Amino acid sequence: MSILVTGGAGYIGSHAAIELLKTGYDIVIVDNLSNSNLESLNRVKELTGKNFIFYKCDLLERDELNTIFENHSFEAVMHFAGLKAVGESVEVPLMYYHNNIAGTINLCELMAKHDVKKLVFSSSATVYGHPDSVPIDESFPLSATNPYGRTKLMIEEILRDLHISDSTWRIALLRYFNPIGAHESGSIGENPNGIPNNLMPYVTQVAIGKREKLSIFGNDYNTHDGTGVRDFIHVTDLVKGHLKALEYLEKNNGIEAFNLGTGRGYSVMDLINTFSSINKKEIPFQFVDRRPGDIGSCYANPTKAEKVLSWRAEKDLKDMCTDSWKWQTQNPNGYN
Ligand code: NAD
Ligand code: WQD
Repeated sequence: MSILVTGGAGYIGSHAAIELLKTGYDIVIVDNLSNSNLESLNRVKELTGKNFIFYKCDLLERDELNTIFENHSFEAVMHFAGLKAVGESVEVPLMYYHNNIAGTINLCELMAKHDVKKLVFSSSATVYGHPDSVPIDESFPLSATNPYGRTKLMIEEILRDLHISDSTWRIALLRYFNPIGAHESGSIGENPNGIPNNLMPYVTQVAIGKREKLSIFGNDYNTHDGTGVRDFIHVTDLVKGHLKALEYLEKNNGIEAFNLGTGRGYSVMDLINTFSSINKKEIPFQFVDRRPGDIGSCYANPTKAEKVLSWRAEKDLKDMCTDSWKWQTQNPNGYN
């Protein structure tokens, strides 16, 4: 029996692959490499000393995916595969709906056909839209502010309907806050294509001299220093939450959503100051207008995951800044 990891060549999936292999699971990875590089998987093999099967396959290629299900006996699926750039999703919404939603439907249909009914799904704090208050718990109202977010929300709803139709499904909806950091070896990490959309990869590219300065999107939010506050979570802590979710699904029926965050909010300025002092690197920046669609504060109440999954994030902002920088310095051009 093994675990199917979709999107396992990507940033979070490759870290999850390490954690699964380290824990003794057999895994099979499926990825179309649309936003990743095979080198990440070579590094996973090097780091763990373990082998696994990889299929370059698109979730939209139903027949190919069916053959993979026929060739293996899966116990559960960790489903990371998806497109994730918010701005791009506004420009090409149909591509996002098609890839993320049709891909997930194909996957679930084949899971049902092959009687594999345990699923850990990569959802996002984006499903809380513009929350009225922080910290955010799982009972907060859900909404979406862009097509990417809407794909996550729709998939959550599709999965709830699936569970209503067949209660033997066991599904964990993991709502990630802001994953950053990298494996402590510095050998795998986030490898954005082109200009990074997210804060930490932009900061590390400024630090290494690839970009001149960081633009900070707004300094007039109602936060302690006016810059946006987020719940940054180390990717290694995040993927440990997935293993806890898998253990939970082994024992429990149902569909449950869990926030995966630290419960602490840090501002953009806090992150820059911590990064600069821990890595001895100045980050030149300028304040610019708010980015459309951004919210002032977003951080989790992670109590449910603590109580139900016995999971808690352990690494702090310094660890996140140290490990992101290690990855960037050891791999100035990512995997390329
Ligand atoms: P990523 O782009 O690094 O990884 C996603 C992987 O999925 C890539 O390797 C890509 O090639 C693959 N993929 C995309 N569409 C596919 C398809 N149709 N068939 C097969 N493979 C496909 O992104 P990530 O940061 O590792 O994110 C993983 C998941 O977590 C995504 O679903 C994302 O939406 C979600 N998520 C990410 C964040 C974040 O900030 N990184 C936050 C919340 C949720
Ligand atoms: C964090 C803070 C920015 C870049 C996004 C998605 C969300 C989820 C995680 C997938 C904000 C500020 C950023 C920059 C800046 N992804 N910032 N200059 O927007 O919280 O969440 O990634 O599910 O859906 O929306 O993350 O890293 O882009 O921004 O000032 O160049 O950094 O304004 O306050 P965000 P982020």
